[in-house]
Amino acid sequence: MFQKIKTAIKYTRNIFVTGAIVETNKQVEDEITSRIPNEDNLVIVEFGMGHGNITKAILSKIGPNSKVYSFEVHKPFCEHAEKHIADKRLTIINDGAENVNKYLSEDVDSIISSIPFSFFSEELKSNILKSAYGILKNKGCMSQVLLSAFHFRKYKSVFDNCKRRKILNFPIYHIYHCQKETKEN
Ligand SMILES: C[S@@+](CC[C@H](N)C(=O)[O-])C[C@H]1O[C@@H](n2cnc3c(N)ncnc32)[C@H](O)[C@@H]1O
Repeated sequence: MFQKIKTAIKYTRNIFVTGAIVETNKQVEDEITSRIPNEDNLVIVEFGMGHGNITKAILSKIGPNSKVYSFEVHKPFCEHAEKHIADKRLTIINDGAENVNKYLSEDVDSIISSIPFSFFSEELKSNILKSAYGILKNKGCMSQVLLSAFHFRKYKSVFDNCKRRKILNFPIYHIYHCQKETKEN
């Protein structure tokens, strides 16, 4: 509980970067990780690790030979996660989601994102979505949590199959599940 309060203070202090004042809850963690395939040898990318709540949920779902690459722009959050999550499957990258192509090329099974998309410029939003689509395998899914349904249309304009789930809690969370499905010739 004390740790949760400390995290809430740190998120609030950095509100323009985090876009949140509290950590995500268990329902969000369960829903946002629900499209991760039930297999081993997966490559998972996370955008917006924060203090690593969702990161831990991802790690608890995947097998011993899978890998997670977590992108986070705020260095103190990276340092916090490095200190508190000891897991060889996790690589923390102190850089923005928009630079994912610098680190990974196509072969990603799932992208789990809690970046504050609403705060970004139109250019940044488009760059992130195009890069995310580009690195996903066919049938791979990007799952994004947001406090609004407003951006769903933007995701639908890039991805092939999109579904939205609402978590009726306070605050109300919207999880977008957006799948890439390239057509075979
Ligand atoms: C809502 S918080 C993360 C919540 C966290 N995943 C959890 O489990 O509670 C959003 C995070 O995205 C990070 N962020 C903001 N812009 C980003 C970007 N362009 N790329 C990667 N991370 C970003 C913020 O620093 C913040 O830590």
